[in-house]
Amino acid sequence: MFSRRQTIAGCAGLVATLAGSALELGGAQAAPDTAAALRMKRRIPYGTCANGGAMEKDAEYRSALKTYCQQLTPEGGLIWADLRPTREQFDFDFPDAVLAFAEANGMTMRGHTLAWYGAMPDWTKQIGSAAEAERELAIHIERVVGRYRGKIKTWHVVNEPIDEAKGKSAGLRPSIWLQYLGDKYIDLAFRLAHQVDPSAELLLNEYNIESMDASSAPRRQALLALVRDLLARGVPMQGVGLQAHIPGKYAIDREGLYSFVSEIRSLGLSVHITELDVIDDDLPAPTSVRDAIVAARAYDFLEAVFAAERPAAVVTWGITDRYTWVPTWHKRRDGLINRPLPLDQHYQPKPLWSVIDYFCRQPA
Ligand code: XIL
Repeated sequence: MFSRRQTIAGCAGLVATLAGSALELGGAQAAPDTAAALRMKRRIPYGTCANGGAMEKDAEYRSALKTYCQQLTPEGGLIWADLRPTREQFDFDFPDAVLAFAEANGMTMRGHTLAWYGAMPDWTKQIGSAAEAERELAIHIERVVGRYRGKIKTWHVVNEPIDEAKGKSAGLRPSIWLQYLGDKYIDLAFRLAHQVDPSAELLLNEYNIESMDASSAPRRQALLALVRDLLARGVPMQGVGLQAHIPGKYAIDREGLYSFVSEIRSLGLSVHITELDVIDDDLPAPTSVRDAIVAARAYDFLEAVFAAERPAAVVTWGITDRYTWVPTWHKRRDGLINRPLPLDQHYQPKPLWSVIDYFCRQPA
């Protein structure tokens, strides 16, 4: 049993507490500190992915970013489909705009992502050999990491390398990179990124490792095996990103998560929470109940992680329920809007924000 910090009776206990005292977690809020003040206090940086449309059109959104965040990850923008509509073209407008906004407001920017199975532009289907795949990956990483050398301090180099668990085991996820380069595509991506910017912190980023479901445990095992192999091969990787798109319907496997993060820590790697949100399509409809469960899942998740290792950052995949990817894949059947994020659609902080804020204030 993990014990470094206080434990509670899991989600059910917290839901009861929250339902009785939503005020403490969702009500009166201390004004968030400025980015500079937070750095002074050595608070764990909190951030969100930055949505392009919202940044452009919604002043309240920009203001929320300034109020709450110390880090920003462009949502899309640096993924292949957005960056490289054609083989020759690189479109840096959006990530450049996020970087300018971040720098103007004392925040840092994270890079997401260099090698992923998803969001590949159509032209990459023409890639037909190992040599061509390696050439394109190298061109991409040199150009993109090179452009933001010294500016993007953390890269999610390889995203979602682990396949869905089949039975008791999970292998590597099929992708154009795995198809042509085999499992060494991961080594290659890290080595290239490190060559181009040796000062950047390089992460492997993965999801669905935290729940009491059938697939999390085998996925944790596969991820750990992969991490060990990479380190044994001398691959320059400094940390692991836990996406934490937490499925609201499952309890958190706190013991399993604690052991996993402890292992990562013992390997000398950092841990970042990179895309936290709580998928609420199967949760009860009433707002206060749903918000309480969402907060409780995040509490259980963060408690288990923090008991093993103080993460280097806590980043949510969106800051307001007004702009979230969740309904694209997990729309509610009752027609109610999803509520996976720290602020509601009117920018009011929810219990989830209080949970995140509480953990980010934990002393080192
Ligand atoms: C989502 C984004 O929110 C979209 O804007 C994008 O087009 C694709 O999918 N894991 C990831 C993210 O690593 O890139 C995904 O983001 C959410 C799941």
